[in-house]
Amino acid sequence: MIKSLVKSQDVIKALDLEPHVEGGYFRRTYQADHRDQLETANGPRYLLTSIYYLLDLQSPVGQFHFNQSDILHYFHLGDAIEYSLIHADGSLQTLVMGSDIQAGQSLQLHVPGGIWKASRLLDGENGFGLISEAVSPGFDFADMEMGNRRKLTRQFPQHRTLIEKLTRDEG
Ligand code: GUN
Repeated sequence: MIKSLVKSQDVIKALDLEPHVEGGYFRRTYQADHRDQLETANGPRYLLTSIYYLLDLQSPVGQFHFNQSDILHYFHLGDAIEYSLIHADGSLQTLVMGSDIQAGQSLQLHVPGGIWKASRLLDGENGFGLISEAVSPGFDFADMEMGNRRKLTRQFPQHRTLIEKLTRDEG
């Protein structure tokens, strides 16, 4: 029996995903609204929030952005996704989330708060990659900063080529 390939549009529709400001598509699946909120330096936040996040050929890049919170990423379906992490000291970490654990791909990825992160869909037979993210303290736009190309290349000139590839050209 030939199994029909699941396409990106099928997954986006089945999971009711919407475009994300970073690129890709998402939907929040959980927020801990049955518990007291956490007091953080930026105000009260849920203990935990969670989303689905998908990259596809139409939107293959999650642009560089900075989060205050810790984020756990869980790979679900499709093609592998490359993560580029720039730490506060300027060091670059590159890793791949995907199902080929024998090739060293990760099913889980922990990104602590305070790091610049971007993601990029790698070539594969599916044309999409689907993960989940669990964010604690819970996600709030006030705790997230989109990477400005000029500002980031000034801060990390050694990563100019990568930053130019994984940020929007704001002119
Ligand atoms: N990135 C990680 N979690 C979230 C979330 O809950 N909402 C949005 N918009 N982006 C996120």
